[in-house]
Amino acid sequence: MKNLFILGSPRKDGNSATMARVVADELVQSAKESVEFIYLNSLSIQACQGCGACSQTGKCVLDDDMQQLYTKTEAADRLFLVSPIYFYSVTAQLKCYIDRCQAQWAKKYILKQRNKDQNYRSAHLLSCAATNGKKLFDGAEFIVKCLCDTLDIQYGKALLIRNAEEEGAIKNNNDTIASCSAFAKELIRSAKKQA
Ligand SMILES: Cc1cc2nc3c(=O)[nH]c(=O)nc-3n(C[C@H](O)[C@H](O)[C@H](O)COP(=O)(O)O)c2cc1C
Repeated sequence: MKNLFILGSPRKDGNSATMARVVADELVQSAKESVEFIYLNSLSIQACQGCGACSQTGKCVLDDDMQQLYTKTEAADRLFLVSPIYFYSVTAQLKCYIDRCQAQWAKKYILKQRNKDQNYRSAHLLSCAATNGKKLFDGAEFIVKCLCDTLDIQYGKALLIRNAEEEGAIKNNNDTIASCSAFAKELIRSAKKQA
């Protein structure tokens, strides 16, 4: 099982990165799965220019680091969209990656090229935020569900952590770390059931 973690926080060692690391460690140690981390903030990915070129070819004409991410995204069995909540949404870095998947949207909806038999592939949201409102993660979840529709993959599970503000808030909380490990164990269990 190939797991691709796409991290949207500018904090490389922040709360959402901690969540991703705990989940990834569990997948490696308990199920010997492969994991790869992409820190979007360290890459050069332009915002979608809305030029419409992808509507003709299904490919994006912008020549930057997103090109390698198209390939990696397609090759992943499980995709983890990892982002803190910024103004009730995902970070700009993650939104930029998602907007550039417009090329995939064009492929599916304009060129009618579907990714068939990809039901085993899934995407999962890992997110955290400083406050604890009921609708805190609704925006982020909706965006990730739209991405799943575009990529023709299943929306999986979400790991959502409230009341985490300062860097280290999650790392220093044993209960939260345990819930991240439990989340990964559940993913492993449901993958075994489906196999
Ligand atoms: C620009 C910005 C916007 C934010 N917006 C929200 C918000 O709408 N709701 C909230 O609860 N926390 C908000 N936060 C707090 C972060 O979600 C929180 O600190 C999170 O733990 C950061 O995760 P990270 O360490 O992975 O970057 C915001 C933080 C920043 C810097």
